[in-house]
Amino acid sequence: MTRDDALAIRAYLNSLDPVKAERRPNDLIWPLNHREMMAGWNEIFFTKGEFSPDPKKSAEWNRGAYLVEGLGHCGACHTPTNFLGAAKASERLQGGTLQDWYAPDLAGELRSGLGSWSADDIVQFLKLGRNNRTAAYGPMAEVITNSTSKLNDGDLKAIATYLKDMPAPATEKKPGKPDPKLVQAGKAIYIDNCSACHRSNGEGTPGTFPSLKGDTTVQDRDPTTIIRLILDGVHAVATDARPTPLSMPSFSWKLSDEQIAAVASYIRSAWGNAASPVSESDVQPMRQVLHGTAK
Ligand code: HEC
Ligand code: HEC
Repeated sequence: MTRDDALAIRAYLNSLDPVKAERRPNDLIWPLNHREMMAGWNEIFFTKGEFSPDPKKSAEWNRGAYLVEGLGHCGACHTPTNFLGAAKASERLQGGTLQDWYAPDLAGELRSGLGSWSADDIVQFLKLGRNNRTAAYGPMAEVITNSTSKLNDGDLKAIATYLKDMPAPATEKKPGKPDPKLVQAGKAIYIDNCSACHRSNGEGTPGTFPSLKGDTTVQDRDPTTIIRLILDGVHAVATDARPTPLSMPSFSWKLSDEQIAAVASYIRSAWGNAASPVSESDVQPMRQVLHGTAK
């Protein structure tokens, strides 16, 4: 951050009325619960200094870089971390898991990243919590409600410009082909349970039921989010501009782990989509987290 921005935050905090609050005990995991260890952690993972603009890029790009890499904290969730909780610099913004959600790739990969999104798609998503492609369902809803929906259009465009300039990861692997029997079973489950809304061609109805064809969430490298959405249903964030979001029913009471794995594998490989298949053992731990039971 620039010094001026840090001082502006401090001036704002100083203007708030004091509150009385219990100080909670430190519940970080070892070794992060030892403050003195943080000196060592900082030594290894923390780079001191202020953001320095890249003179080869536009002012808008640099503003976006400043917001995404600094105050936006986007990497705190969208960058995978190592076992000490430090961001893996070589996989910056290429997707991470947190709180049993997957924060997707924000680089330029076409299927699961933002390669197929326009700059305007990104602006709309960060401003309204939804666009024609998807909506914010999990931790991103809080980010949008409390933070990005309050940014001005110039800053949102700057973020989009910066993200759209990030190339796809060089090491993108082609997903494995799912077992045809699994896909066949998944298709039957889809026709019975999903096609009434998302249609049998996967294209949904614009503005009402999202298209699953070409959808980045459906094709996420890590299927955590879609397993969760099928089990628990979908409740998107409401913003002032879009106060009443639609929702999707939950299927945890109706479909077994095996059936959810099959239907997820089907939508990840139908209509030109391509993403790794989902297995029963991917679904079971999520059901355990959400409901504490097996089915
Ligand atoms: C607290 C964690 C967290 C932070 C911080 C965060 N995100 Fe997210 N983001 C997520 C998660 C989790 C999802 C997917 C599930 C959902 O909707 O919550 C997501 C989804 C997205 C998507 C949709 C991508 C897709 O393919 O569907 C975009 C775009 C996005 N985030 C951009 C950003 C930007 C830009 C920032 C920084 C200004 C940011 N996020 C900060 C957790 C986070
Ligand atoms: C009653 C209608 C309905 C049915 C049935 C239904 N859905 Fe949905 N689904 C929705 C709606 C509505 C949303 C989006 C909610 C929103 O935008 O706030 C959604 C969102 C999704 C998403 C997230 C897409 C994205 O990127 O935003 C996935 C994945 C999904 N549905 C899969 C399924 C599967 C698989 C089934 C069947 C097991 C299914 N849906 C059945 C209405 C339905």
